[in-house]
Amino acid sequence: MTDAIDSGLNNQIISFGRGVFADLGDVEESPFSIRYWNSRLMQWSMSMPDFKVNLFRLVDVLPTLKTPEAVGEHVRQYLTGAANRLHPSMGWIVGLSDSAIGKVLTNFLVSHGVRQMAGLFIAGSSPREALKALRRMRRNGYCFTVDLLGEFCVCEQEALDYQARYLDALETFGSTIPGWREGAPLMPGHPGESSPVCISVKLSALYSQTGALNFRRSVDVLSDRLSEIARAAQKRGALVYVDAEDSGNNPIIYETFKRVFGSPEFASMPYPGIVIQAYSKSAEARVAEMLQFARARGAPIAIRLVKGAYWDFERVISAQNDWEFPLWTQKESSDACFERLSRILLDNAELCLPAFGSHNIRSLSHACCYAEQRGLTPKDFEIQVLYGMAEPIAQAFKSRGYLTRMYVPLGDLLPGMGYLVRRLLENTSNESFLRHTFFEAEEVSSLLREPHFSEPHDLAEDQPRAAFAAPEGPESVVVNLDY
Ligand code: FAD
Ligand code: 2OP
Repeated sequence: MTDAIDSGLNNQIISFGRGVFADLGDVEESPFSIRYWNSRLMQWSMSMPDFKVNLFRLVDVLPTLKTPEAVGEHVRQYLTGAANRLHPSMGWIVGLSDSAIGKVLTNFLVSHGVRQMAGLFIAGSSPREALKALRRMRRNGYCFTVDLLGEFCVCEQEALDYQARYLDALETFGSTIPGWREGAPLMPGHPGESSPVCISVKLSALYSQTGALNFRRSVDVLSDRLSEIARAAQKRGALVYVDAEDSGNNPIIYETFKRVFGSPEFASMPYPGIVIQAYSKSAEARVAEMLQFARARGAPIAIRLVKGAYWDFERVISAQNDWEFPLWTQKESSDACFERLSRILLDNAELCLPAFGSHNIRSLSHACCYAEQRGLTPKDFEIQVLYGMAEPIAQAFKSRGYLTRMYVPLGDLLPGMGYLVRRLLENTSNESFLRHTFFEAEEVSSLLREPHFSEPHDLAEDQPRAAFAAPEGPESVVVNLDY
């Protein structure tokens, strides 16, 4: 397998992508809607880096502030200065926090505003409360996977509560959703629609002592706790994905996934899902490992391919500890890696259900066009998007006949802060496809250009990189496992 694709395929991707862009239309928000203000805040954050840092700090700390005085004080410290440069209403809100009565009003406006903003990305606080939204999603032709917000827990009670919330969610969803008219398969015969109920789990929230220095025990405890969730899912016929997290925890996460879903109890569970992050230098080896696992298991798995949501976090941790940076340093390398791994997954569609998790039209168009070139159909893979992030893009892929799954976070603001900040960073990052598309209206031709690795990417000889590359020819999806 080479990095470059042939020019015929590339032209097809560009033409496909242009069609998707043409479908997006103009998104005009009313100044009276929370979307308008969210969009303004994002624009201000992009144009004023100091405001962005302070706004995100405020958003991060807000759920822990218990009194109007504390909120008022933080608003004043973080936003004075920037606010007047932004908009008269912002200056007014910050100015209020000088007086006692004003602090109460600032507290209300800011807390309410952040909650509303969170509501754009978080669909509800509990499984029961979310049923209506989930039903609407299916009625509109989207399937979903539900994530209960939580990660990096600090005590065992918190971990056990998180597990109990998943067991409760499976009970709530399993006893209602399959009975809905909307619970019927959106695409009969698609493995992702063997059940309308699907969850995504973050393992770091299931054990308070998860950590590389406690590797063996982390895998033991997490395997027991994930097994209990998998058992409840199996009883209800639900699908399960295990999310990828930071590179410190990922080896534990992959080992736990293999232990649980390779065990005799779950060996025939349909399509347990794992996530691979293309921004990681070890992503290709990880893909080979997971395809090997699926082969040994004797039943396919689902693999969600994403670029990865922890780039900024990893950068800071590596720098602080003087560690080698485990991720690509150029965004284009992550894009190129995503395309390369998309091809490997589609070449091995007998072993896995590839699920492409991205809001990047080029990345998704590449997957759809390559699948077609290899003679695959929309039943052989799916598209996944995050709730609230890029609805016009989701709509465009759904209307082209691809099964499109929304990743739907549920929970309270406090456990959801990490998630919310990652979404805000993703929307405003200099490198973000969404920023270039929706905020900067960059040229479509540039957004659809083929990405290339812009840094050395040769893997060590002993890594199983090429083992799953299919021989040339559209009919062949044979894999070589003798390495
Ligand atoms: P793009 O704008 O094309 O790509 C942005 C990404 O490029 C960044 O997020 C980062 O990964 C990468 N990048 C940015 N700057 C650089 C740089 N300087 N060098 C190298 N790479 C860079 N993420 C997880 O980590 N774990 C999950 O389990 C997970 N589940 C997801 C589920 C779904 C359904 C979706 C849609 C996303 C999920 N994500 C997950 C988040 C995903 O990683 C981000 O949404 C994604 O990285 C944004 O990529 P994009 O292709 O949409 O956008
Ligand atoms: C995150 O939590 C979606 O898993 C991804 O950022």
